[in-house]
Amino acid sequence: MLIQFPGGVPAHMPYADTQPTTHAAAAPAQNFTQATTLGALVATLAALRRPPALQEMNEWMHTTAPQAKELRPLVGFKEGTYARHRVFTSEHVELLVLCWLPGQRTPIHDHDGSYGVVRVCEGVMWETLFATDEARGLTYQSAREWTPGLITGADVPDIHQLGNPEVSGQNLITLHMYAPPLKSLNVYQVGHKESVSTVWMSSWNPTI
Ligand SMILES: [Fe+2]
Repeated sequence: MLIQFPGGVPAHMPYADTQPTTHAAAAPAQNFTQATTLGALVATLAALRRPPALQEMNEWMHTTAPQAKELRPLVGFKEGTYARHRVFTSEHVELLVLCWLPGQRTPIHDHDGSYGVVRVCEGVMWETLFATDEARGLTYQSAREWTPGLITGADVPDIHQLGNPEVSGQNLITLHMYAPPLKSLNVYQVGHKESVSTVWMSSWNPTI
């Protein structure tokens, strides 16, 4: 189940030029208080003595507006693949900044049991969602566009793909929260009934 948040229903665009455009449901109305800093979010996570609920994660990510000076030391890009920069980790939760050049994207994946919430800080993020079909295996479901300040939250076991579209013409910076900390991604391919491989995060260390 994917959860949408206020700030306006995003424009809906296909992930790739060949994919059809579909439309997601309107976001439910919710009230959030004023924005807080990335530092305040880290302090909240550091004080956590239990696993956070997905709804809490969504609220924290919605109210956190990282300042430019906070993001600057966490931003760095790689050729060939998006870059992961760790902000905070504990036994319960992990916070990362991911940096994407145009055209960089994840494989189709799930979070192997972790909740995941993403906030777009700069740029445009395309998210493609998939469904499992008894007869056809993994199938395309829909695609959405996310812009700065918007949040997307992934329950378990959502299968999706994120990326910075080649045509965006700009870099993408996103803030990611996982609970428990992401240990691995199960990777999928359209038409297959099972995961085709696993990417272990321990072999892909964040740069910070
Ligand atoms: Fe993901």
